[in-house]
Parts: sequence; structure tokens; C-alpha cells
Amino acid sequence: MKIALLGYGNVGKTFARLLESKHGVYPFAIVGVHTARHGSAFNPKGLSVSPAFGPAVGSVEEFLERAQPSVLLEITTLNPMSGEPAISHIRSAFSRKIHVITANKGPIAHAYAELRDEAQKAGVEFRFESIVMDGTPIFNQFRNNLPGLKVLGFTGVLNSTSKVVVAAMARGLSLEEGVKEAQAMGVAEADASFDLDGWDSAAKTAALANVLMDARVKPQDVEREGIRSFSAERIAGLAREGKTVLIVSRAERTGGGVRMEAKAEVMPLTDLLATARGTSNLLLFHTDLMGTLGTVSMNSGVEQTAYGLFSDLVDVARSV
Ligand SMILES: NC(=O)c1ccc[n+]([C@@H]2O[C@H](COP(=O)([O-])OP(=O)(O)OC[C@H]3O[C@@H](n4cnc5c(N)ncnc54)[C@H](OP(=O)(O)O)[C@@H]3O)[C@@H](O)[C@H]2O)c1
Repeated sequence: MKIALLGYGNVGKTFARLLESKHGVYPFAIVGVHTARHGSAFNPKGLSVSPAFGPAVGSVEEFLERAQPSVLLEITTLNPMSGEPAISHIRSAFSRKIHVITANKGPIAHAYAELRDEAQKAGVEFRFESIVMDGTPIFNQFRNNLPGLKVLGFTGVLNSTSKVVVAAMARGLSLEEGVKEAQAMGVAEADASFDLDGWDSAAKTAALANVLMDARVKPQDVEREGIRSFSAERIAGLAREGKTVLIVSRAERTGGGVRMEAKAEVMPLTDLLATARGTSNLLLFHTDLMGTLGTVSMNSGVEQTAYGLFSDLVDVARSV
């Protein structure tokens, strides 16, 4: 199967290495890579993990025309305010009957229902397992193992960067030093203020509600409060009292829709939600037939995000 990558940052490079390591069993080929500032690369027989980039093609349409992939991986930078230009990238692929897999939560948080319907109309697959918990199965679990289950709400701790920063501040470091730690791990958004101000959590909350509760909402509909109002002194003081601060994503069905929030909360370190430390994430679903069930990912990172893309890719390859 021929794959094109739109974006070749932390996730793209890690995915390319994973694909190379599995090539004996899964002979997928990356035939094109396009970036914002590093140019474009093409090889119909497959690119290496360190492609020789030439000048950038003029547009995503031109990129798809030259690469001729059967699957596009949309792994460009998150824009939590509008989901663009990733939404347009995905539409360009659908209009050429190209399957799309993305780790970019923006399009799902802003335009899931429309994109799902457009993919169906075009007769192509649209997958996004990596958008919430770095590839730990959520959407595929519901699709494959939990038929007919109604999600009444969910509670989750889904932003790694803010937790890494709070943990650093609890050790006496500054917010900036905490951000540097998260950046060194490759888990911070390109603009880390999206993590600190709760936009990443709001986008994940909206995406989960759109896919699993048919909410048709945007991140701006999520009540949001990040961690910036907590000073390093206050967080260190809370740590001495056995407490921490977490951005908690919550959603619940109301009479007419879904109420959502992604807000910083103080809680004891012994709270179940607070056990998901560092880059670990935890998500509980409240359902009609299965009560509350949950998923945990321990110390996940960019390798697991790449695996989520890979698992989607294998699933798409099997379904066509
Ligand atoms: N890192 C993680 O652990 C993680 C986990 C889950 C989901 N994600 C999501 O995965 C996506 C990629 O994350 P990342 O960590 O790989 O980001 P990154 O390191 O910042 O890389 C982003 C890549 O996208 C390219 N790009 C940006 N805008 C573009 C455009 N308009 N057209 C073409 N290319 C464009 C950049 O080009 P240049 O190289 O030229 O700048 C870069 O190669 C994001 O949406 C993020 O939210 C990341």
C-alpha cells in the first residue's frame, strides 16, 4: 500500500521508523512526504526514513497528484481554534478517493460528522485512533467490541504536557522549565500554550463527544480552564499537602445535548484520576449497558502515537 505523509515532525519521523521496522511483515511504502518549511520528497518505490527533501510543491493538491498514494496520513500541526488547514487537506484526499488516517485532533474536534459523511460518500476510510490517547484503542474498541453501547458521558485526564509541567513545578522548577521537559519528550504541541491553557484537552473532549456521542460541537463549546493561574509556589504547596492539579475532561448528556468541560481541578494524589502521572492518561466512559469502563495508557508517548497510526493503517489495508 502506498502512503503519503503530510507533516514530518516528531510523529511522522517516528512513524516512518516504525514502518521500516515492520517492513518484512507489512510491506507499506511511503511514496511522498510534504512539510511546511522543509520541502517535499517523492519516490514511487518508497522513501528512506531520512528522505532527501527537494523544493516544496505548491499545494497539497499538487502533492497528492505527484505522490499518487492510496492513503494520506495527515500529521500536520494542531490548530485547535479551527481545525484548518488540516480539514481542507483531508477533503483534498477524499475528493481523489484517497483514504485518510490522522493523528491531528483538530478536524475531528471541528468537523467530524461532515468528514465522516464525505468519506462515506467518496467510498474511502477515515481513521483517527491516535488523536486522544496516543494510539491506545478507544474508537476502534467501540467500533469493534462494544456494539450498541450508548455513551452517557466520560471523565478523563488526557493532556500529558500539563501534567509534566505540574510535576516539574511540584519539584520546585518553573513553568518554562516544565515546558522544556515536555518538549524534550516530544509530547508538547508546537505551541505549548495550547496544552497549558486547556485547548488540547478541550479539543480532545469535543472530538470524543463528536465521535462517541454525536455531539456536533467544537472546542470552543467546552468550558475550559488551564493551569496558568496556579503559581509554582502554590503547586509546590499543594504537593506538600499530598495534592495536585489536573486538567480533567468531563462530558455528560443533558436534555438537549452534551455538556462538556476541560478544567484544572485540585485533587488528592490518591484520587484515581491523579494516578495517571506524567505522560500516562486515563479515560472512563459512563455507559448505558456496561456501567463505567475505562482505558489507561502508562507512560505513553510519540512511539505509541505512531503505533496508533500503524494500527489504523493495517485496519484500512485489511478493509479494502
Ligand atoms: N507528538 C505527540 O506525541 C502527538 C500525540 C498525539 C497526536 N499528535 C498530533 O500529531 C500531529 C503532529 O504532531 P508532531 O508532534 O509531529 O508535530 P511537529 O513535530 O510540530 O510536526 C508537524 C509537521 O507538520 C508540518 N506542517 C505544519 N503545517 C503544515 C502544512 N500546512 N502543510 C504541510 N506540512 C505542515 C511541519 O512542517 P515543517 O517540518 O516544515 O515545520 C512538521 O513537519 C499534531 O496534530 C499533533 O497534535 C502528536
